[in-house]
Amino acid sequence: MILFEVTRFGEVDSTNEHIKRLMAQGAPEGTVVIAETQTGGYGRRGHVWSSPQGGLYLSALLRPGVYQVIDQADLMAKLPTLSLACGIAVRRTAVGFLAPRVAQDVKLKWPNDVVVQTEAAYRKLSGISLEGTAEGLCLGIGINVVPPSSSKAGKEVYLAELTCSGECPSVEKVSDALLTELGAIYNTWLDQPFLHFLSEYNEHNVMSGRRVSIQAGQGTIEGEFLHIDE
Ligand code: BTN
Repeated sequence: MILFEVTRFGEVDSTNEHIKRLMAQGAPEGTVVIAETQTGGYGRRGHVWSSPQGGLYLSALLRPGVYQVIDQADLMAKLPTLSLACGIAVRRTAVGFLAPRVAQDVKLKWPNDVVVQTEAAYRKLSGISLEGTAEGLCLGIGINVVPPSSSKAGKEVYLAELTCSGECPSVEKVSDALLTELGAIYNTWLDQPFLHFLSEYNEHNVMSGRRVSIQAGQGTIEGEFLHIDE
């Protein structure tokens, strides 16, 4: 059972960088860093993750298989599914604050973005990164909670825009709920095959039915995204 030990900061360079420094110093699994703002927040493939006040910026140190008895071959085989499971944890967190009619539009976009589907497109509510080093894994989660005062209509959506007026949860409440969902998902992920999460992922998968192209080696494969399997 993972236990989280949370340290909150005002401003950091990046909670991911902070966790990786702690990881190198031997910090235990469950170490969590949360910051109000980041000066160098980043996402997958090196994208900048804009990190003004009002967002949740959280990183957690994971060392699957170090504290738990788990077959190493099984662990290596399912490691790529951990970030998908974390997407489910973030989706569960968000919908926990929303009315059912809004919650049904909160979707997962491959691999683990949490987005909100509108008529024309979808807008991003949360992004997740997972980085491995020799010492362990750094899970980074950004959730748009309250829009910054200068925000223009963009590709993002904020939890505050989805809740009924006046009911927006504080960033702290969102982080508490996220850690509860994350702990439950991580423990299940360690014990169960990814098959356990498949129906939930596919039920809320925004990609189903879309045309996709995949860069594979030198070539590109065109096709339709149906669902993911185990
Ligand atoms: C993505 O969608 O590309 C992933 C975004 C991950 C952003 C979070 S915010 C907290 C943590 N610290 C970072 O610098 N990045 C992650």
